[in-house]
Amino acid sequence: MCGIVGYVGNKNAQDFLISGLKRLEYRGYDSAGIVTLDDAGEATLLRAKGKIVNLEEKLAENKREDKIGIGHTRWATHGEPSETNAHPHQAGDIYLVHNGIIENYKELKEHLTEHEFKSQTDSEVLAALVESFYGGGEYSLVDAVVQALKLVKGTYGIAVISRLNPHEIVVARSGSPLVIGVGHDETLIASDASALVGHTKQAIYLNDGEVALVTSHSVEIKTLNAEPVSAKVEEIETNLAAIQKGGYEHFLLKEIMEQPESLRETLRGRVNATEGTVRLGGPGLTEAQLRKIKHLVIVGCGTAYHAGLMAGYYIEQFTPEITIETVIASEYRYRNAYIPKDSVALIVSQSGETADTLACLREIKKQGVPTIGIVNAIGSTIAREVDGGTYVHVGPEISVASTKAFTSQMIAMVMFGLTIAQAKGVKPSVLRPYVQEIAKLPEVVKETLASVSAEVREVAAKYAEYDHAIYLGRDTAYPAAMEGALKLKEISYVDANAYAFGELKHGPLALVDDRFFEVALLPSGELYDKAVSNVQEVLARGGHILAITNVDRFDLPVENVVKITTELKIFAPVIMNLVMQLLAYYVTVAKGYNVDQPRNLAKSVTVE
Ligand code: F6R
Repeated sequence: MCGIVGYVGNKNAQDFLISGLKRLEYRGYDSAGIVTLDDAGEATLLRAKGKIVNLEEKLAENKREDKIGIGHTRWATHGEPSETNAHPHQAGDIYLVHNGIIENYKELKEHLTEHEFKSQTDSEVLAALVESFYGGGEYSLVDAVVQALKLVKGTYGIAVISRLNPHEIVVARSGSPLVIGVGHDETLIASDASALVGHTKQAIYLNDGEVALVTSHSVEIKTLNAEPVSAKVEEIETNLAAIQKGGYEHFLLKEIMEQPESLRETLRGRVNATEGTVRLGGPGLTEAQLRKIKHLVIVGCGTAYHAGLMAGYYIEQFTPEITIETVIASEYRYRNAYIPKDSVALIVSQSGETADTLACLREIKKQGVPTIGIVNAIGSTIAREVDGGTYVHVGPEISVASTKAFTSQMIAMVMFGLTIAQAKGVKPSVLRPYVQEIAKLPEVVKETLASVSAEVREVAAKYAEYDHAIYLGRDTAYPAAMEGALKLKEISYVDANAYAFGELKHGPLALVDDRFFEVALLPSGELYDKAVSNVQEVLARGGHILAITNVDRFDLPVENVVKITTELKIFAPVIMNLVMQLLAYYVTVAKGYNVDQPRNLAKSVTVE
């Protein structure tokens, strides 16, 4: 959500800023801007509404050889997307870019009477506040930033430069990530390490409450209370191939197709199919601690929440005496929820930076409950603050819609459940079928993607005409249906909602008419016949059904059927989810919308 970049060194700053913003564009794409300074402190400020290409057009007429600058790609919070509201914001000699939300901006603004505000943003208030402490260069920039931040309530990742000292950048964070890339004769700033890939492998991840004074050769970090912090340089693991489209037309398709490999990474070294056991090192809980677990709280937002719901259904199938509550982070953080003794909380997040999920993590920790991260982004805030964790290792997910992360989060949580069940002494004969199917997943996912893609594309062309959809499932296929509906609605703007099959006649059945199509998930198993009866009810009312099933003998007179492999029984809904991912993708392509950057959204929601 919003991207920040910065550069100070001996190369062209504009070049890095633009290429860095392009890498971060998936985090916000309402508007963008950069400012660079020449050696005399003369500034070139360029801002444009819309995508980075619009900014590039302005850049073509304003090329500079400046060696320092900062940039931003915006996802609007305060003020509509416009050139004036785009960052960097200027106040006197100061330029500032900001991710996050300044909650007390109105109160602060009242005191900043000398600044003539041009934008509607909370970020310009922060720029003016820093300027008020800077006193036209009477105080150092870093001190001015510290004084300003002491008055701020809210979240921020910021980068600030001054025309009076065109050799330094001040950066700070609280609740919004910031990474400092250490290069040869250059230092780079980004809100996400992917912008640094190809420039340097050495990175310093700033912690909340830290401020850094950055030059081309040095990084000095201290806390807001002026305590010095020794910088820990870490290796950036991402490579260029992981953040490029690699021949695919869209990142989303690439990420869907990557799932055999991403799942393999999630399972690597953790699954023993022959013995039917799993082993997770990251959570760091002893056998005795695992045995004692009586309650799991699973916390996430959006797709991560769905992964948690689905994993919860599975875990309770094989783990005795356990209750599981999967919660939406934005709700849970304000609930007065009692967490029973002997609980463990699973904190699920692809980005590891989602503000609501992070807030829940902090609340839960206050209650002394052990927290386990199910996180993708290595070194992210959630990954660093949990007591233990299991990285899903799916590599960068660039498309705004989450796909490969969902599959791996879900399976990683099931594996955590299996480790609890193992510790509780559940018979290997109960657990083995789960482990064996998990071990087969990468191969089955590969075969399925290869075999169903063309068919789903054809089917999608038929349903691209509709503006409404209902997704239906039971048991583990119900959270799968929820995820399928979210995927379709967020990228194709089809009004798609999911219901448990059994809920249909309690209300949603009234919706069925020619404006709607229904996606019916029909895995084999005990509840298959019940779900089939529900399908009949929809058919009787003229429903336009697309069935997804692993049942060979399926013969209902629905409009379309996508048959998936019969090899997996337990995890068939995971395979059905692949079909739904492809369906969302191809419907969106057919409708001609931007697949990777759907309107109004951004990756990594670092504001509340
Ligand atoms: C949907 C989607 C979002 C995210 C949610 C949580 O496709 O991507 O719903 O799943 O914003 O994000 P993370 O997992 O980064 O915490």
